[in-house]
Amino acid sequence: MNSQSGMAIKAEGLTRKFGNFVAVDSIDLNVPKATIYGFLGPNGCGKSTTIRMLCGLLSVSAGRAEVLGLDVSKSAEQLRTRIGYMTQKFSLYEDLTTEENLQFMGQVYSLGAGKLRRRISQLLDTYSLFKLKDRRAGSMSGGQRQRLALAAATLHEPDLLFLDEPTSAVDPENRREFWEKLFDLCDQGTSILVSTHYMDEAERCHRLAILESGQLRAEGEPLVLMEQMGAHVIELEAENLRVLKTRLLDIDKIKSAAQQGLRLRVLVDRSIENPVTYIQQALGSSLTCNVVHPSLEDVFVTVTNGERQ
Ligand SMILES: Nc1ncnc2c1ncn2[C@@H]1O[C@H](COP(=O)(O)OP(=O)(O)O)[C@@H](O)[C@H]1O
Ligand SMILES: [Mg+2]
Repeated sequence: MNSQSGMAIKAEGLTRKFGNFVAVDSIDLNVPKATIYGFLGPNGCGKSTTIRMLCGLLSVSAGRAEVLGLDVSKSAEQLRTRIGYMTQKFSLYEDLTTEENLQFMGQVYSLGAGKLRRRISQLLDTYSLFKLKDRRAGSMSGGQRQRLALAAATLHEPDLLFLDEPTSAVDPENRREFWEKLFDLCDQGTSILVSTHYMDEAERCHRLAILESGQLRAEGEPLVLMEQMGAHVIELEAENLRVLKTRLLDIDKIKSAAQQGLRLRVLVDRSIENPVTYIQQALGSSLTCNVVHPSLEDVFVTVTNGERQ
């Protein structure tokens, strides 16, 4: 693999087994530098396991990964100072204050006293933590803790940041602000890999990988994935949506049907040339059907096996 390739992460056949169970199944990855790259997938699909291998914290069962030009299996210690990792659960000390937590992290990363003081002061400002500097982490809200966790993960100015489901305990407004901070970091040259199971978050990423059962199901820019999706999306308006939905799912080439408010959103296989006529012929010609633009959720349903559960 070529480390001069402009890739922050390159993985080939990356695999992790726990006993006979394959948690991550031969994943290939190319994550460009200075972009926000998403891992989208349901609980248990292997997001955290992949991230832990890429951080050099978990050994690789097969395949290989190069992170910032370093082989994760051989250079984990060198890698440690160049990456930041925000774990899925809050992993700072609840009994320490904001400032104490940052000081502690500074010691972990062996930052000199002057540099540490400067960075803490910058971070308190960047993440609006100044008023909270003497507050114990345990008594802060989800959004405040998350800002502190991001400050701690970026204290040593890493080139690459791993964020594992960073906004699962945060309300929508704080999530928006958090993402603005991620784009600021990216703009300054930091590469970011973020895992999520929220579609709206995945849509914000420059590129993303859709994972299911440890396997890579799709990869690319969100808009391109939507454009190239292997299904038509039809919105159907009618009175008895629950009954129609059951009937639709019995029809060949209907990949999924899900209610959204007063409409059913139906995915019809691309091999059907005229999906509106196809549905009307099956269910009655008086039905109101419209072809609409795909969303990332439609892409997700199309490339995974979750649609008929
Ligand atoms: N230490 C472990 N021992 C056994 N199984 C594990 C271990 N860690 C994760 N797994 C299993 O691997 C799969 C992927 O887990 P994980 O990577 O945590 O998924 P995600 O982060 O996408 O929710 C799950 O089925 C999980 O139960
Ligand atoms: Mg996880």
